[in-house]
Amino acid sequence: MSNLFDVKGKVVAITGGGGVLCGGIAEYLAACGAKVAVMDLKLEAAEEVVRKIVAGGGISTAITINVLQRDSIEAAHKQCVETLGPVDVLINGAGGNHPSATTGPDKRFFDLPIDAFQKVMDLNIIGTILPSMVFGKAMAERGEGVILNIASMNAFKPLTRIPAYSAAKSGVKNFTEWLSVHMAQEYSPKIRVNGVAPGFFLTHQNRFLLTDQATGNLTPRGQSIIAHTPMNRFGDAQDLYGTVIWLITPASQFVTGITVPVDGGYSAFGGV
Ligand SMILES: NC(=O)c1ccc[n+]([C@@H]2O[C@H](COP(=O)([O-])OP(=O)(O)OC[C@H]3O[C@@H](n4cnc5c(N)ncnc54)[C@H](O)[C@@H]3O)[C@@H](O)[C@H]2O)c1
Repeated sequence: MSNLFDVKGKVVAITGGGGVLCGGIAEYLAACGAKVAVMDLKLEAAEEVVRKIVAGGGISTAITINVLQRDSIEAAHKQCVETLGPVDVLINGAGGNHPSATTGPDKRFFDLPIDAFQKVMDLNIIGTILPSMVFGKAMAERGEGVILNIASMNAFKPLTRIPAYSAAKSGVKNFTEWLSVHMAQEYSPKIRVNGVAPGFFLTHQNRFLLTDQATGNLTPRGQSIIAHTPMNRFGDAQDLYGTVIWLITPASQFVTGITVPVDGGYSAFGGV
């Protein structure tokens, strides 16, 4: 019990690991001694993260995964186990919104292409459920494990303009609750499922909504977010690390089914 936050030697598999937030999380966990499988649709992005981890003396491997295809997930899981050992922690980080599923002055909700809507729904919710099936099955067989889902602020209240992403992320929070109960009751109370809901982090996928491409200045939406964030700034990947390590270690051993906002106070603020 001397170090409740210990991840040394633990095998952590992280989808979307080539991205901004999960790449940072992967580097942090590897620096803490975890063996990290960085899994992404874009192998080069995953390899870039792994290069940094290995250069810092960490243990890591890059693996291609498509979180929407069961075969691909099965193959990635097999590769994880063969390279690093049985997976202790799955972080479902692959996800995001897309401009084509976003309403705007020239794009009415009524006219959004349903394919675009569906792609965003699939990536965020099916892309969380399918890896949980494959990696979760192995955890059920071992009787232990942790799944951590990356949700979003719009898991609690939908945000304007991004209906598909909002619906999907609220589904991620709901699924987190469902799976936590299922795993504890049907398989083992040593399998925990939780979520993290990042507030607003200025990354590739929301830059087009929060900053003006030409000037780099905040858009009215970006300004409104800052005005509704009591800490008065966007988040940084590092802001997530403490909550992630808490939720994947025995430090949270009696915690399951929750989704923790990491949002600079956004969800606590009534706006006045
Ligand atoms: N940026 C934010 O402000 C913010 C806020 C709340 C939640 N989030 C969530 O955090 C997570 C990471 O966000 P980010 O900003 O770092 O995004 P990012 O775009 O930098 O990373 C997402 C990664 O997922 C990968 N990916 C996409 N489709 C995939 C697929 N089918 N299979 C496997 N990998 C796939 C991409 O290649 C990319 O590397 C996402 O789930 C996102 O929805 C982000």
